[in-house]
Amino acid sequence: MADQLRPLISARRIKKRVGELARQISEDHRRATLTLVIVLKGAAVFAADLMRRIETPFVVDFVRASSYGKTARSSGHVALGDEARLDIAGHDVIVVEDIVDTGRTVTALIAALEKLGPKSLDVCALLHKQVAGAQPVTIRYKGFDIPDEFVVGYGMDYAERYRNLPGVYRLTPGG
Ligand code: IMP
Ligand code: MG
Repeated sequence: MADQLRPLISARRIKKRVGELARQISEDHRRATLTLVIVLKGAAVFAADLMRRIETPFVVDFVRASSYGKTARSSGHVALGDEARLDIAGHDVIVVEDIVDTGRTVTALIAALEKLGPKSLDVCALLHKQVAGAQPVTIRYKGFDIPDEFVVGYGMDYAERYRNLPGVYRLTPGG
């Protein structure tokens, strides 16, 4: 059976919301040294659009964090990349994520980045999944709340597929 995809958030709604988030970030960080830390790979598409709408100067850097592998369930184990090399001491830092699900990834990342002495540390996530028992995470810049279903598109994948879809879709994996 083929994977089943059902539309959840259209490309048009995403575009509008990304513009609003970028405006808010620009206003909040006018006089700061701002660094965006983009979490690969899922946030790449969101971040590319977000960056082009931010009007204040910023530095961009990337980290890898993966907890899913080839499944549609969070494994609970978070493998972080080489975030220790980031030069963010005294910077306003915004972690850019595609989706916060159990909250483990972003919580682990925040703890690691905190040690590098940023002036401020906030999270920008396109999506926040409403999951029972998830770690409480403060998402200062949030795109949309979504129900507890697996989603793909706009950078997000299922076993590396569907990142190219312009909107966000719910996925029911085929057999
Ligand atoms: P968490 O650690 O459970 O919050 O998982 C966050 C990470 O898992 C995100 O950065 C995504 O890459 C991935 N993820 C979580 N939920 C989904 C989903 O519904 N579709 C695709 N990737 C997801
Ligand atoms: Mg991710």
